[in-house]
Amino acid sequence: MKHYIDFHRDVSFEDLDYLLDTAIDLKAKTKAGIEHHLLKGKTLAMIFTKSSTRTRVSFEVGMYQLGGMALFLSNNDIQIGRGETIYDTANVLSGMVDGIMIRTFKHQDVQDLADFGRIPVINGLTDDQHPTQVLADLLTIKEHKGTLKGLKMAYLGDGNNMANSLLHACAKAGMDISVASPKDYTCPEKYFAEALEDAAVTGSKIVKTEDPFEAAEGADVIYTDTWTSMGQEAEKAKRVEIFKNYQVNSKLMGVAHKDAIFMHCLPAYRGYEVTEDVIDGPQSVVFDEAENRLHAHKAILVNCFLN
Ligand code: CP
Ligand code: NVA
Repeated sequence: MKHYIDFHRDVSFEDLDYLLDTAIDLKAKTKAGIEHHLLKGKTLAMIFTKSSTRTRVSFEVGMYQLGGMALFLSNNDIQIGRGETIYDTANVLSGMVDGIMIRTFKHQDVQDLADFGRIPVINGLTDDQHPTQVLADLLTIKEHKGTLKGLKMAYLGDGNNMANSLLHACAKAGMDISVASPKDYTCPEKYFAEALEDAAVTGSKIVKTEDPFEAAEGADVIYTDTWTSMGQEAEKAKRVEIFKNYQVNSKLMGVAHKDAIFMHCLPAYRGYEVTEDVIDGPQSVVFDEAENRLHAHKAILVNCFLN
């Protein structure tokens, strides 16, 4: 059974090729209005204990377009919110639906759902990782640059779930990645180590720095994310102070490659991690990136349900 929980562990090099090819094929079919009911009659339970716009809509619409259906289960409505265990939830859902997508705080809860249940589990974001986003990101880069291998990404700001999964994704795809974060806010060593494992095969260069300009130098892709992730709202004022030198603005974009693209998983906070002129400017591909969640997620669903 194929889960999609941890990009480094769950996406082999062959899976990555298959997922990107499938996403490109399903995107073309969607645009051409060609029916592709690959998951006719299949059902997906979507558990959310954190907010979402893109992840929820893309998985729900994606299941519909694939001929199946999705159930939106917020923790305000299902018994998990009142203390029902992951063990019981995994077993109950395994008897009724064909797969689970979950967005929640603790990464281990997602792994437990997979371990206790009998159906594929997709990680729609945890405090530690955001593996579905990075597949859409790779698809977007490939569309704009024609290739992935040999390109350089610079990630600026918080060493959070996005940064961890981008380390996984870039290394797997053969892209170089430089992560620039304040010393105590870089990614956990585990993610650099895992990226280095794949980099040994693909030739990616993995760099950790505190200097945003060093990271952005000559980059083909400049990527940032909010400085205050879901669950950290109480620390917002402190974080704005800590990350203020990591803002993506025109000066920072000026040291990147002249054709560099700007990426952000969204939601974005203009005037904080990115200035308005950059995110709303000609180098920004953030809405392509958001749309590609739909196409990438359909590829993930097909891979988990059928392969
Ligand atoms: N990028 C992303 O995951 O967006 P949502 O929080 O809206 O799902
Ligand atoms: N790092 C952000 C990503 C949102 C999609 C968060 O976890 O809130």
